[in-house]
Amino acid sequence: MSVGKTVLELEDVNKTFGAVNALSGIRLSVLAGEVVALVGDNGAGKSTLVKIAAGVIPPDGGKIHFDGEVVDFRGPMDATKAGIAVIYQDLALCDNLSVTANLFLGREIQNSAVSPLNEEAMESKVLELLSELNVGQIKEIDIKVGSLSGGQRQTIAIARSLIGQPKVVLLDEPTAALGVAQKVEVLKLIRRLADRGIGVVVISHNISEVLEVSDRVVVLRLGKVVANFETKNITSDDVVAAITGSKSFS
Ligand SMILES: Nc1ncnc2c1ncn2[C@@H]1O[C@H](COP(=O)(O)OP(=O)(O)O)[C@@H](O)[C@H]1O
Ligand SMILES: [Mg+2]
Repeated sequence: MSVGKTVLELEDVNKTFGAVNALSGIRLSVLAGEVVALVGDNGAGKSTLVKIAAGVIPPDGGKIHFDGEVVDFRGPMDATKAGIAVIYQDLALCDNLSVTANLFLGREIQNSAVSPLNEEAMESKVLELLSELNVGQIKEIDIKVGSLSGGQRQTIAIARSLIGQPKVVLLDEPTAALGVAQKVEVLKLIRRLADRGIGVVVISHNISEVLEVSDRVVVLRLGKVVANFETKNITSDDVVAAITGSKSFS
């Protein structure tokens, strides 16, 4: 799918923690159907930016535009309802529950207020989602998530984020804990999210992976955006130079 209109835009967003300027004057836009890689050294402000976009912490200043409107998220539920999904590094899956139960945790489909959960509807939705995502590896949806591999668990976390039909998906280091083959699968999955028209923001430390999966690379350094590259125009040297500040790109 081709890249569409702006879905998420941060305008002059600031955040301080005591004396630390975690983010200053952040401008970032994410278009429907694109993958934006967010990179930067430890402490650059990546996770803070994601938390602000996800309504987890409020910015000290600046505006957030979502789907054409200025939004003021008072908490993560507001961002979720608006259509922003976040997948954190720890995934927050319940190992002792099935794939289906994990996908619907907290938003189970009920036949009515008093009747039991509609297992059939949930299972068919899970199968539909996994097949849409082209996830061949997960065959059994009634097995416990604890018995799945790291890549499969990441897939479940991503699939779960899609149940609310988000317009933006933010992933904080989705491949950090994965083996090589699993990384490849998760990168493909990230690309398929964008192909569905979702605006994707992915934090990663792995520069070759960033170049492989993204359309754009936004580099944070000491809380500021120091580069905004089109991936097709750059090499890993450019990304490293922007991260370390050895060269200026703005
Ligand atoms: N809750 C917090 N309290 C105090 N300082 C924080 C908090 N969260 C982040 N910081 C500081 O803000 C800066 C940016 O952190 P973070 O967004 O986690 O960076 P990154 O994800 O790029 O490693 C760092 O200096 C970090 O120590
Ligand atoms: Mg972080």
